[in-house]
Amino acid sequence: MTSTLSVIGTGYLGATYAACMSSLGHTVIGIDTDREKVDQLTRGELPFFEPGLENLLKIELASGRLTFTTNFAAATDADVHFICVGTPQKENSLAADLSYVEDALASIAPHLKSGSLVVGKSTVPVGTAQKLIERLAILAPQSDLAWNPEFTREGFAVEDSLRPDRIVIGVTSDRAEAILRTVYAPLLDIKTPWIRADLPTAELVKVAANSFLATKISFINAMAEVCEAAGGDVTVLATAIGYDARIGNKFLKAGIGFGGGCLPKDIRAFIARAEELGATQALEFLRDIDSINLRARQRVIDVVRLQLSEDLSSYKIAVLGAAYKPDSDDVRDSPALDIAAQLHAAGASVTVHDPKAIANAKKRFPSLGFTESVTECITDSDLVLHLTEWREYRDLDPEVLLSLTKTPRMIDGRNALDRDRWVSAGWKFHALGRANS
Ligand code: UDX
Repeated sequence: MTSTLSVIGTGYLGATYAACMSSLGHTVIGIDTDREKVDQLTRGELPFFEPGLENLLKIELASGRLTFTTNFAAATDADVHFICVGTPQKENSLAADLSYVEDALASIAPHLKSGSLVVGKSTVPVGTAQKLIERLAILAPQSDLAWNPEFTREGFAVEDSLRPDRIVIGVTSDRAEAILRTVYAPLLDIKTPWIRADLPTAELVKVAANSFLATKISFINAMAEVCEAAGGDVTVLATAIGYDARIGNKFLKAGIGFGGGCLPKDIRAFIARAEELGATQALEFLRDIDSINLRARQRVIDVVRLQLSEDLSSYKIAVLGAAYKPDSDDVRDSPALDIAAQLHAAGASVTVHDPKAIANAKKRFPSLGFTESVTECITDSDLVLHLTEWREYRDLDPEVLLSLTKTPRMIDGRNALDRDRWVSAGWKFHALGRANS
């Protein structure tokens, strides 16, 4: 059985979700207040890069099931309304800005038909859903609200939405669960684990998962610091501990740390919320996780200064990578771009290359140098930084590149390049967390 759904907020999460729900056979109305975004999506163009999604978007638009609009009234017939708007970090605090979520609820409320279900997917501080349910009881008393966190990774968004490793729902009624079971019926058919929880638990699952992942990354980056001090090799250490099934080998890639629109702001908002709840001590460790993460960026800058000089003003530095991770054009809180900007601010002449993220990076730091050619980026450089592990950087030929540089120095900030290959080609090679010559 199919339903009519609205998806409010057609940014990264919403656009992906709208196309994927349409591909499950539902009729989907994507709503956004940004007309330009709506027009772009209607033309079948994605406002961001995500492998496989533009193709799916085109197919679903052509099917007639998927439409985009700025008009909330277009969703009057929908049975379920998914809120997918952003919850960015507030400007002068660690806390999340909930204004987009509140606005979304207020805008859709007048158009909710009796018996409809509003479902929050945005990542919110625990307790938000309860507040929204109380608000909804005033604005549209015949409607209900549920929470259904999203665990999509950029670069794997379609796969994660259509074959999620679990579906978590926070509900206050059996009826709400039954509605969501209908929406997700095709995913239940493929045996996706289904977890019914109360509202606060459903909200917490998301931030707890992201905090755990952030902790794993910062743990291995802390080990990288110790390995560097002791002359050990963090990549071997990670492989060795990863064989222990209780630890697992995922998210143990040491390097310049985590960035993006989720992990950094989610752990900060979690710290802020715990303080409000009187549970400050419980999440005190997340402050260390954040500091270790930011320190990884600083450690790269320290190595650059050690290799070149305290005064960077006469040096040309090539930066490979601007996106916060490969297969994405997202530069939000990108460790790579942050390092590039800090080196530029310290006086170095910095040229950045990225296969997809240059346009976004330029908007953020217009004064940095950018190029679409790796060769041009590296030519005449005193040092090359590998900061986002795109496949094409792993495929580079160090022998060919050697002669382009002024001095062949490589710092691998992602532990992704084949060190032996680069060293035997004649490069001075520094990897984070590994014994370095
Ligand atoms: C994350 C969560 O994984 C996802 O479940 C949630 O819905 C949103 O936030 P995403 O931001 O797409 O997803 O990126 P992820 O693949 O988790 O990587 C986050 C950051 O950690 C990236 O900057 C990545 O480079 C870094 N990372 C990841 C490491 O530094 N080391 C690792 O071992 C893994």
